[in-house]
Amino acid sequence: MKVIERIADMKALSRLAAGRGKKVVLVPTMGALHEGHLMLLRKGRELGDVLVVSIFVNPAQFGPGEDYSRYPRDIERDLALARKEGVDVVFSPRAEEMYPGGYQTFVDVEELSRRLCGLSRTGHFRGVATVVVKLFNIVLPRVAVFGLKDYQQQLVIKRLVRDLNMDAEIVTVETVREGDGLAMSSRNRYLGEAERKAAACIPRSMVAAGELFAAGERDVEKLIGRMRGIIDEEPLAAVDYLKICDPVTLDELGEADEGSLVVLAVKIGGTRLIDNCILGRNCVKIRN
Ligand code: PAF
Repeated sequence: MKVIERIADMKALSRLAAGRGKKVVLVPTMGALHEGHLMLLRKGRELGDVLVVSIFVNPAQFGPGEDYSRYPRDIERDLALARKEGVDVVFSPRAEEMYPGGYQTFVDVEELSRRLCGLSRTGHFRGVATVVVKLFNIVLPRVAVFGLKDYQQQLVIKRLVRDLNMDAEIVTVETVREGDGLAMSSRNRYLGEAERKAAACIPRSMVAAGELFAAGERDVEKLIGRMRGIIDEEPLAAVDYLKICDPVTLDELGEADEGSLVVLAVKIGGTRLIDNCILGRNCVKIRN
């Protein structure tokens, strides 16, 4: 497995691979790899010849006062995990090389970026879209793999690929969950013991919405009311947003349907967690 830090070296390798007709697959990450990322790597491994994982904590997608400086960084552990998954190249550039002095070009997916997480994290998706375009230009992937836990993010990325006539195919992978249903996330590391227990209210609320939907309820207010009731019972939890939306446009719905998106962001203590599920399809399962 090669570890590449310099953009020029990564570009040279990508060009060589493309020239030899190799299919390059990119899994973009910010490191602190967990089982959810490993599923992305396994999917990526199946899809091409050269599997590249980028590990880059992207400053452009963090707002002032957010967790950029304390975001978990564990490169040695990440490298060991990547090696075990058969990754060919780890690309881990330095922030100063990705955004040198004088940097001033950003990509903005206007409408999708200003909904849901975009309302409480101004500029977040502009940072995500920008770094993804930069990574695609450097790595030249034919396929890139993203997790559905970041549902809005994958919509933003699919939109920019279409709008900017980019060639990469975007493949998504289901969310990986702990036994109590909590979606795996690098930010789960921030949770203390009591907070970790409290966070289970998020999947529990989605299970309840799924059950109510299965029993025939279609009124979004009632579905959301049931979810809110469960989260509000948990003293450490505070809802940022909780919505049922069209899964493509993210427009809010009055009546839910099979395939509607349940999407939420909840603060557990100081940690903001996001999650989602699709009604009638992949609604969350709790194993213990
Ligand atoms: O999902 C993430 O880890 C990041 O938002 C991404 C896509 C790697 C861009 O920095």
